[in-house]
Amino acid sequence: MSSDKPTSSHVPVLLEETVKALAVQPGGRYVDCTLGGGGHAGAILKRSSPGGQLLGIDADPEVIKIARANLEAYRGSSLLVNENFVNLQATCIKYDFSPVHGILFDLGLSSLQLNGNGRGFSFQYDAPLDMRFSPGQEVTAANIVNTLSEADLARYIRMYGEENYSHLVARHIVKERPINSTLHLAQTIERAIGRRRGKIHPATRTFQALRIMVNRELENLGVALKQAVNLLGFEGRLVVISYHSLEDRIVKQFLQQEARDCICPPGVPVCVCGHKAQLRLVHKKVIVPSPAEIQHNPRSRSARLRVAERVITQDDCDSRAEVEKFLIETNAGTWRRPSLVKRLQVIFAAA
Ligand SMILES: C[S@@+](CC[C@H](N)C(=O)[O-])C[C@H]1O[C@@H](n2cnc3c(N)ncnc32)[C@H](O)[C@@H]1O
Repeated sequence: MSSDKPTSSHVPVLLEETVKALAVQPGGRYVDCTLGGGGHAGAILKRSSPGGQLLGIDADPEVIKIARANLEAYRGSSLLVNENFVNLQATCIKYDFSPVHGILFDLGLSSLQLNGNGRGFSFQYDAPLDMRFSPGQEVTAANIVNTLSEADLARYIRMYGEENYSHLVARHIVKERPINSTLHLAQTIERAIGRRRGKIHPATRTFQALRIMVNRELENLGVALKQAVNLLGFEGRLVVISYHSLEDRIVKQFLQQEARDCICPPGVPVCVCGHKAQLRLVHKKVIVPSPAEIQHNPRSRSARLRVAERVITQDDCDSRAEVEKFLIETNAGTWRRPSLVKRLQVIFAAA
């Protein structure tokens, strides 16, 4: 059994690409919704200095402590908050932190959580079957494993783990209950579906499904993305790094929808939705790590980065008060893209 000590190292994924995608600039204001150990946050703070500010959010109080130590040099320009990003908008309002130049989501887990800190995220270390990002959450993985019906377990393991053998896994789990530790669960799954040479560990998909359920990861992502758009200043950037197809599908569909003027179903002759594009896709294609990065950091191999930019909508222009407020902010020097200020002034003058 491996030792169950926390580690303080997490290698940030697609670091250069992220800073570039966020168009980080001196004096800019950024939100890192998934602070982790502060790897991306540190790079953003460095590039946005002098004058940059960062609000860092993480649901896990343990990683916030590590980030605080890692970002000590930026104490004066960073505010680190233990919060779930499902409350992104309320958090930004609470700390008077909007509009912002960029928002980052680097989804999932950090190595700090995965490398065995007794929280039950990994099947490689024995620990209680917990998987909560925050101890304040009610439902643990053990609750799910020990209480759901076989049919529901099979359905959710299939849905959130994309596990083809979910029925076999569920049947073995139900027979073996109660299961309260990660190794007990991993061994049960291995007995159910066996190890296939060259394939991922047989417990990988079930552990992913449980983690997604415990932390309501997909629901929270959908809610937070909507809030993020409202917090971006004009031409502010939204950057999302996802690590599995379920997350990436939500991100892709959301960005594509928000980049379209009309989202009426196909076949509707005249637009009835009135939807207006709020985003522009900066890259049509997803950004993935280079072979060199994957070799250096194998955990980056499934990463997919998407980036979009806030555009000015007619509604934004109609809201004179909003534009006025925004111009006041730019004049105060928190927004330093002269081309943007010029464009806004033209729009404002015409409004
Ligand atoms: C991949 S790590 C981020 C690593 C970070 N970018 C770095 O460079 O160190 C993801 C982090 O997001 C946090 N997280 C996941 N879901 C969250 C949520 N809904 N709200 C807040 N934090 C969340 C996890 O606790 C974890 O620390």
